Amino acid sequence: MGLTQLIILSLIQVSWATALPTGQQTSSTPLLCSTDSRQIAVNASNNATWPWQTYRSSTAQPPALLINKTGDPLYDGLIIFATENGGTPAAEQESPYIFNDEGELVWSGPVDITYNVRIQTLNSAPVLTYWSGQGTAGEAAIAGHGYGKFIILDTSYNVIHTVSTNLNITLPPGVVTKSALDLHESYITPRNTLLVSAYNTTPADLSSIGGPKNGWVLDSLAVELNITTGEVLFSWSSLDHLPLNKSKEPLGHSGSNATAPYDFFHINAIQPVGDNYLINSRHYWASFLVNPKGKVLWELNGYDGGDFGNLPEGGTFSWQHFARLQEINSSAALIHWFANNNALALDAPIPSTGLTLQVTIPPNKASPPKLITNFTNPQNPVAAYSQGSFSYLPNGNGFLAYGSNAVLAEYGPVSETNSTEGQVRWSAQLGYGESLSVYRGYKSVWHATPSTEPSLVVLSAKDVQNDDLALCAGTSTMRGFVSWNGATDVTDWIVYTGSNNTTLTAVGRVNKAGFETQFAIPAGAAFVQIGAVENNSNFVARRSSIVKIGGSS
Ligand SMILES: *[C@@H]1O[C@H](CO)[C@@H](O)[C@H](O)[C@H]1NC(C)=O
Ligand SMILES: *[C@@H]1O[C@H](CO)[C@@H](O)[C@H](O)[C@H]1NC(C)=O
Ligand SMILES: *[C@@H]1O[C@H](CO)[C@@H](O)[C@H](O)[C@H]1NC(C)=O
Ligand SMILES: *[C@@H]1O[C@H](CO)[C@@H](O)[C@H](O)[C@H]1NC(C)=O
Ligand SMILES: *[C@@H]1O[C@H](CO)[C@@H](O)[C@H](O)[C@H]1NC(C)=O
Ligand SMILES: *[C@@H]1O[C@H](CO)[C@@H](O)[C@H](O)[C@H]1NC(C)=O
Ligand SMILES: *[C@@H]1O[C@H](CO)[C@@H](O)[C@H](O)[C@H]1NC(C)=O
Ligand SMILES: *[C@@H]1O[C@H](CO)[C@@H](O)[C@H](O)[C@H]1NC(C)=O
Ligand SMILES: *[C@@H]1O[C@H](CO)[C@@H](O)[C@H](O)[C@H]1NC(C)=O
Ligand SMILES: *[C@@H]1O[C@H](CO)[C@@H](O)[C@H](O)[C@H]1NC(C)=O
Ligand SMILES: *[C@@H]1O[C@H](CO)[C@@H](O)[C@H](O)[C@H]1NC(C)=O
Ligand SMILES: *[C@@H]1O[C@H](CO)[C@@H](O)[C@H](O)[C@H]1NC(C)=O
Repeated sequence: MGLTQLIILSLIQVSWATALPTGQQTSSTPLLCSTDSRQIAVNASNNATWPWQTYRSSTAQPPALLINKTGDPLYDGLIIFATENGGTPAAEQESPYIFNDEGELVWSGPVDITYNVRIQTLNSAPVLTYWSGQGTAGEAAIAGHGYGKFIILDTSYNVIHTVSTNLNITLPPGVVTKSALDLHESYITPRNTLLVSAYNTTPADLSSIGGPKNGWVLDSLAVELNITTGEVLFSWSSLDHLPLNKSKEPLGHSGSNATAPYDFFHINAIQPVGDNYLINSRHYWASFLVNPKGKVLWELNGYDGGDFGNLPEGGTFSWQHFARLQEINSSAALIHWFANNNALALDAPIPSTGLTLQVTIPPNKASPPKLITNFTNPQNPVAAYSQGSFSYLPNGNGFLAYGSNAVLAEYGPVSETNSTEGQVRWSAQLGYGESLSVYRGYKSVWHATPSTEPSLVVLSAKDVQNDDLALCAGTSTMRGFVSWNGATDVTDWIVYTGSNNTTLTAVGRVNKAGFETQFAIPAGAAFVQIGAVENNSNFVARRSSIVKIGGSS
């Protein structure tokens, strides 16, 4: 393991040219010697940065996931998350990512501070979405919320929408941005609108909680927008509907000015539930159902159950994230959260759980919530003091991202007849302690063919450190490195070579291995190109540029 080396192209002239037509039938060609060529890098002068992966054909530097797994069945999907550095350089590169559960990179997005990257559905089509800070929003994100825009990509990774609007809210002094969407929630509804959170810096009378009469709060807003026009279709203000004195967040020194407003509510999740909205408040330890007129229909409180009655043993929660409700029938629902159970990095922390309660609807204190899951990993009982997510996967497994602690985990389904079910089956660490955040993590089915072309780099074998192909490459002295950022369905690469750049013929096939595949280029080739084959088909979906192999000795 060494530091990333600069790729030295001294002996090789690379010429980029237009790719040949795609869709040509691939002939049956011999399998060439190849391998997964990812390398792991560490920073020898800085042990605070988690090890990362490097490639020759891509500048991506994603984390090297440290994975535990039991071998029990996992959901067949891809893992989607973004890394967010704290003050220290905990991740070599901050980006949104897609991985498989073997820890292989699939897609590396723009190097930027992004939140809540995930797969959603817009107009019946799958889309990849994320929040991206705008203006001085990056600094605000570290303060616990953000100001930015919402990006929607199609299955070719083309941006099809950027939702950007100032929402007419007041920004704290010093924050400059054109778009005021908050980083916590960005949910595309079944009616193809967008639910987003927003934080409005607002004057408020804080005397009821021992603060100044002319004080300041962060008013948490739940907003529904038209995705194409940015028009506001619904806006709910927590300050207009809830008393400040039910917040669990201490006023402390906040609230006396607009630079340090009192964050009494801290909205972090919104879900459409029919015409209503499920709104989660970290600082009330509560989830609320709100109707289209803004009226609070009920409150489920993590301390005393609120309208639902006493919570079961092992089923209380605090400082929680990612509330989601799933109706079972007209009188019962499941609600689940990432139950942080901690507000600070404490010395004696309480494990965070993937909490699921079954509740009676409408709420009835005589029929209080029942505990369905409180997923924890006894081998690694992470106590996350902020952020996090817990979603159910279609096969019944649960997927957790531990927020302030860069850990992801998949749990097996719970069973009414087998109490030992619901154990962790897969977990991954990608940062040290609390230095790196993974705000949310998802596992989803995603099939994408990028609009960019595959990337091909050629090196002389003698310039390849630890050349894994030395034993199988025969007379080949050149190595190709190929990747196609974001391609999910490539199974093989076809290798074309020629003595000139007008006539290249298929000389071999390479099985795709990992994000980047290294292969031996047959001896004597002057030009090389690769073609991507998806789903073991007989057709080339896209070719790389032609690379000239010049001056090799
Ligand atoms: C082939 O090489 C010529 C001369 O260098 C160049 O002009 C042309 O664009 C190249 N064509 C392809 C398909 O690479
Ligand atoms: C390694 O860490 C040092 C100290 O933080 C930093 O200056 C340097 O840029 C890092 N190197 C790489 C390759 O990230
Ligand atoms: C980094 O090195 C310092 C000094 O040896 C040590 O105290 C610290 O625990 C190390 N950190 C990690 C993440 O290994
Ligand atoms: C924002 O303010 C402008 C100008 O006062 C007004 O025309 C517009 O309707 C407002 N939009 C919202 C969503 O309140
Ligand atoms: C959004 O606005 C466009 C343009 O006015 C309109 O065609 C569309 O129906 C609106 N969508 C929703 C969900 O309101
Ligand atoms: C909050 O204030 C209201 C009246 O302003 C009072 O009735 C209520 O008891 C207070 N609640 C708490 C939790 O202090
Ligand atoms: C605002 O209040 C905070 C907390 O009391 C204080 O640290 C800060 O100096 C104040 N800022 C201004 C501009 O008065
Ligand atoms: C999970 O719930 C059980 C009660 O059913 C309780 O004994 C246990 O402590 C809980 N675990 C956690 C981590 O909350
Ligand atoms: C709804 O589901 C709950 C939990 O499975 C069950 O106890 C209840 O009988 C069901 N009610 C109806 C009306 O089907
Ligand atoms: C219960 O689940 C555990 C963990 O998956 C499994 O090892 C065990 O065989 C199951 N027991 C029964 C009776 O199915
Ligand atoms: C993997 O297992 C080891 C040994 O039980 C444990 O120390 C580590 O925390 C686990 N990693 C994760 C990400 O859960
Ligand atoms: C390119 O190579 C092919 C195959 O070797 C050959 O038939 C053709 O004449 C060459 N074309 C040029 C322009 O050299």
